[in-house]
Amino acid sequence: MCGIVGYVGQKQALEVVVAGLRRLEYRGYDSAGVAVISEGVLEVRKRAGKLANLEELLGADPLPQSTTGIGHTRWATHGGPTDHNAHPHVSEDTRIAVIHNGIIENFAELRDELRAAGVQLTSETDTEVAAHMLAREVPIVDGDLPEAMRRVCRRLEGAFTLVALDREQPDLVVAARRNSPLVVGVGEGENFLASDVAAFVEHTRHALELGQDQVVVLTPDDITVTDFAGEPVEVRPFTVDWDASAAEKGGYDLFMLKEIAEQPKAVADALRGRISKDHRIQLDETDLDESVLRSITKVVVIACGTAAHAGMVAKYAIEHWTRLPVEVELASEFRYRDPIVGPDSLVIAISQSGETMDTLMALRHAKEQGARTLAICNTVGSTIPRESDAVLYTYAGPEIAVASTKAFLTQIIAAYLVGLYLAQVRGLMFEDEIRAVLDELDEMPSKVDLVLDTTEHVRELARELADSTSVLFLGRHVGFPVALEGALKLKELAYMHAEGFPAGELKHGPIALIEEGVPVIVIVPSPRGRAVLHDKIVSNIQEVRARGALVIAIAEEGDEAIAPFADHIVRVPAVPTLMQPLVSTVPLQVFACEMATAKGHDVDQPRNLAKSVTVE
Ligand code: F6R
Repeated sequence: MCGIVGYVGQKQALEVVVAGLRRLEYRGYDSAGVAVISEGVLEVRKRAGKLANLEELLGADPLPQSTTGIGHTRWATHGGPTDHNAHPHVSEDTRIAVIHNGIIENFAELRDELRAAGVQLTSETDTEVAAHMLAREVPIVDGDLPEAMRRVCRRLEGAFTLVALDREQPDLVVAARRNSPLVVGVGEGENFLASDVAAFVEHTRHALELGQDQVVVLTPDDITVTDFAGEPVEVRPFTVDWDASAAEKGGYDLFMLKEIAEQPKAVADALRGRISKDHRIQLDETDLDESVLRSITKVVVIACGTAAHAGMVAKYAIEHWTRLPVEVELASEFRYRDPIVGPDSLVIAISQSGETMDTLMALRHAKEQGARTLAICNTVGSTIPRESDAVLYTYAGPEIAVASTKAFLTQIIAAYLVGLYLAQVRGLMFEDEIRAVLDELDEMPSKVDLVLDTTEHVRELARELADSTSVLFLGRHVGFPVALEGALKLKELAYMHAEGFPAGELKHGPIALIEEGVPVIVIVPSPRGRAVLHDKIVSNIQEVRARGALVIAIAEEGDEAIAPFADHIVRVPAVPTLMQPLVSTVPLQVFACEMATAKGHDVDQPRNLAKSVTVE
């Protein structure tokens, strides 16, 4: 949440910073602001609302030229989304400007202290205290901004990335991080920092991963990193393995449409290099210790939202293949309920961003209990993989639209690979059984491609149903998490009541929601899989139809038995049961995207949301 950009170099800082903010706007769009230093003066422009509002302001009231600047796009926590609360925040003496991502938990105490010292606070944000504290520390340490930053950080509690400018030191940007993302971009005669590499990848693909509780100091020609005590620390360099074009819309109207269309490639990339020529799973890159995999007695998945749905899908597969119990826990609940995890548990944290605070905190709790941890993550160098014992990257490429699409499919693939690897290492499946599943996985990119070729019908339906007040989703077995995912997509994009249910559970209460004309989208299990599931879902469809529901069946090609029971059928390719989520989710993504578009909503940046949720 909140996007942060910093630049120092030879270019016009404002251009670099605003372009970076454009790429980070998915992280929050309640307000945007920039600060530059020009002729010993800190110049700030900020505006509530999307970046476009700030750009309009910059058009009307341009900033002077400068080669040092910072910028921020906000997802509001403390204080409403107003001009006043927008970042950067400036100290009373106008010497220091600060931008911040995270929450300073002891801000009330620090604010009272500042007030007692006569400082006037002008916003409702927690960030502003950092600006005033820095301004008070800088003279004490003879203008040493990095040292002032360290002294301030030692007093802060909570999660923060802080970036500061000092009008007296025009070629300097200083930043600090604790529990919030921050990466450094290494250029020639210029350096960058940002919440996400997307902000600077058009300038450099050389980056540095920062650790916890570190302060980084950027000048055009130098980068130094210390801990909060001032001791130099080692940082890990990495190269961004995608280029700026991957974070562009590439001819699509929406990032979400582009990312839906990228799914065949994303699935192929998630599999690439992980299956050997002799049809064995090779996950050497992950550092997964085979003796640990042999010794564990259960698997616990921790994740949020869409990532949790991917975990729920994986549970069916991993339990089936390994006979190990798999618990899927919403990360936000995990550490608050005294979960039973220990050295015999493999805890898998699934996260696209690798920064989700709920998941990170759950991961840390699991580690404290001695659990072995594995991250399934899309963002290289992010915090969750860095803090896990092992990591399996999903390689879906940057996901910019707030609603997750390709991340979901690739999370399922990665979790399946882990499940099969467990089965392989523990000798639980015959080689030909593993090979058969790998062959099925291998076919998935082309199957997903087939779904994408046939989305017109689902688009039409979305437009026709755009005035509905509620949509229900039903599934059984792996179709149940798919139903949850379909409902989540519709809620977050079309802002309408949508619920996903296990189809068999409906009669235990939710069936009371059915009234004449309510659209019910049913993920129909393959009749070739476990026929009983197909038969049962037909009964469930009858139950809702008898009460007036409009039934839309997501059913495989060739399932003619479903025809008499559905008002509409959306066809997906016939695939084995455990592969069905990979094809049946896609029409639901398209449905939500189209319905939100029909309603005139901003699909890529739905209201109240942010892509990377770095608060608990
Ligand atoms: C929904 C969505 C969210 C995320 C959730 C976890 O479309 O994007 O539900 O899945 O916030 O995010 P990550 O995967 O970054 O941990």
